[in-house]
Amino acid sequence: MNQRVLTGITTTGTLHLGNYVGAIRPAIAASREAGVESFFFMADYHALIKCDEPERINRSRLEIAAVWLAAGLDTSRVTFYRQSDIPEIPELTWLLTCITSKGQMNRAHAYKGAVDANLAAGEDPDAGITMGLYSYPILMAADILIFNAHRVPVGKDQVQHIEMARDVAQRFNHQFAKRRPHADAQRRLPPEGAADQAWGGPAPDQDEEFFVLPEANVEEDVALLPGLDGRKMSKSYDNSIPLFEGGSKGLKEAIARIVTDSRLPGEAKEPEGQALVTIYDAFATPQQRADFRAALRAGLAWGEAKQQLFELIEAEIAPMRARYDALMAHPERIEEILQQGAEKARAIAGPLLARAREAVGLRRFTAVAAPAVDTAKATKAALPVFKQYREADGQFYFKLVSAEGQVLLQSAAFAGGRDAGQWVSRLKREGAAALAEAPVQRGEGVDEASLAAALQALAEAEAG
Ligand code: TRP
Repeated sequence: MNQRVLTGITTTGTLHLGNYVGAIRPAIAASREAGVESFFFMADYHALIKCDEPERINRSRLEIAAVWLAAGLDTSRVTFYRQSDIPEIPELTWLLTCITSKGQMNRAHAYKGAVDANLAAGEDPDAGITMGLYSYPILMAADILIFNAHRVPVGKDQVQHIEMARDVAQRFNHQFAKRRPHADAQRRLPPEGAADQAWGGPAPDQDEEFFVLPEANVEEDVALLPGLDGRKMSKSYDNSIPLFEGGSKGLKEAIARIVTDSRLPGEAKEPEGQALVTIYDAFATPQQRADFRAALRAGLAWGEAKQQLFELIEAEIAPMRARYDALMAHPERIEEILQQGAEKARAIAGPLLARAREAVGLRRFTAVAAPAVDTAKATKAALPVFKQYREADGQFYFKLVSAEGQVLLQSAAFAGGRDAGQWVSRLKREGAAALAEAPVQRGEGVDEASLAAALQALAEAEAG
């Protein structure tokens, strides 16, 4: 199975050079790797949280789409779409909202930051805070989970949101675990005589868990581009270099405003720590970097250094700018590409959402009303099921899950899958009698009697 990589950009403004270097360029490069299936989108539902100017929202999503395309995104390889064209996303958001604890949302940085700012200003803690801002991490979780993405490249500020997405995915998996006939659990036991190590645990089974648990990818080596004043490049600091806005003249003017020290032409300059040099690095080959440093140490004038920086960036950006301008002159072409992207995305999101609805109990009545043809099978389906699995800690576990999805029993950790498997077999055979010795504990809110009854039912079924 391919690694699915997914990332979105909130469409509230115009992209700057830092967005290109830090997000767009590495994402496009990664999308060309073999074995990677990429999903890139305009997070325009997220934009509504931060901005209430319809014109600006619309303009921004058009511009950002054009930037992705102009920067060389190959839409035949990747799935490229607007979030708001995928109705499955807000629908999944609601299903996830219903299993997300409010306490966890209280701890989200964006919300907490807004509350702290209100408190500092002596205001009501929730002044001006919308439910959109509050629930933002759940929408983001739906963005990711609806495509079962494995990796999510994001900035450090977004890592908490990916962790929340993992949490909610885990909760869903746990609560609405897929019920499989218990024979399946047995099939994944180690083969007779296989050494634990050689066996390596049960094969990861995509069906076993409903959602893939996504991981944040914080690219440490992708340059965090400094702005004109040396702080992080950000619109809110008003220190950014535009990507395409203002054309090559705009680029040149911005570069002219990069803050340097006041060493004169001919004076030796220390390149390290200069914003100008860090920006240069982001576009240069190792050889160019070394040459640039040597020239500064040998007294290259800042004005001349800025000219060199401009030429370097312009060489990479100018062809993209031409494509960008051509696209912006024909928004209908962008629209068409995005419509195709939405179709591709919905072909994945639709079936997943259908399964999620099914899992939580929003089912068609026809299927429920259909008479059970095979009563033996029907009885079996109502039995609890043992599930064996391996956690990220490398340890093996099992749990007993009722037909309704409740965890009845949870095992301790085992170093080997075989040990776990042997306990499962014994519990199946001996039922509640094996409980006293088994390294297990009852699920939350499960009383002894119902656990014993469940095990008894299983043991009887086992005995035929
Ligand atoms: N919240 C992200 C940001 O502000 C944008 C975003 C929305 C996103 N949904 C996402 C990023 C899903 C990655 C995955 O940067």
